Amino acid sequence: MGQSIESYIKHLVRDAIGHTLGGLELQRDRKTYVIANWKMNKTVNETAEFFQYVKSSKNVSVVVCPSAQLLYPAHLFIKQSGQPIGLGGQNVHWADKGAYTGETSASMLKDVGCEYVIIGHSERRQYAGEDDVLVNKKVKQALKTGLTPIICIGETVDEKNSARTEQVLSTQLFGALKDLHSGDIIIAYEPVWAIGTGQSATAELAQQTHAFIRSVLKQIFGGQADSISILYGGSANENNAADYSGMPDIDGVLVGGASLQAHSFEGIINVFAKGDQNS
Ligand code: 13P
Repeated sequence: MGQSIESYIKHLVRDAIGHTLGGLELQRDRKTYVIANWKMNKTVNETAEFFQYVKSSKNVSVVVCPSAQLLYPAHLFIKQSGQPIGLGGQNVHWADKGAYTGETSASMLKDVGCEYVIIGHSERRQYAGEDDVLVNKKVKQALKTGLTPIICIGETVDEKNSARTEQVLSTQLFGALKDLHSGDIIIAYEPVWAIGTGQSATAELAQQTHAFIRSVLKQIFGGQADSISILYGGSANENNAADYSGMPDIDGVLVGGASLQAHSFEGIINVFAKGDQNS
């Protein structure tokens, strides 16, 4: 029905992968998330406008992560809108409080209505020197305070081209999750080469990588790994969301650019809401 050969092949591959992994028996008892990472964008007025227009869905957990100074207004706008939308920070400090100029503590995030926090985003790893040891301290602090950490991992283009993706991801996971006993976390697989480039990973590649990530989570958490949501991030948008939502180990997306406009973000939410009804 006017379907391109490329999309036909994509569907065949998706079915084949789903089958190999026991797609049908593999119950999706994991939560599906569509999460916005606004990065360093938006004013208070733009935030108000966004929450006036965006419509969430009860089939999907929708979370918005604005920059720190927008968190409290965003909390109020979400309340006003009556939409089931969660709030998350983009970063957190590992200490309870103290002389850490420019930082935000986990309890401060809770205080302004956050339930989530992004930790270890590749942009912070690149320019703020965050390494796995620091990520691990922040993850522990978030969990101790009752925030769900959204832990970002991903390989650079050089690491991908030299076939080191699995080694890099596994090091990042073991580092971030060192001495952790709770699997009450979200993992976001964000290949660095796909972030903000328009070169999203194919859904097949993302699925394969997510399955690998889950195998590492099993080594760390045993059976609990099956209930950990693993999100894809990197140039995700309304047009490619359906490809990701059809994959058994892709439990949602972490969206940058396409989350800034209410209509495109809502488009992605709707794709996952539909996918979830069908699974
Ligand atoms: P883009 O969706 O703009 O590629 O950003 C992805 C990202 O970094 C989300 O955390």
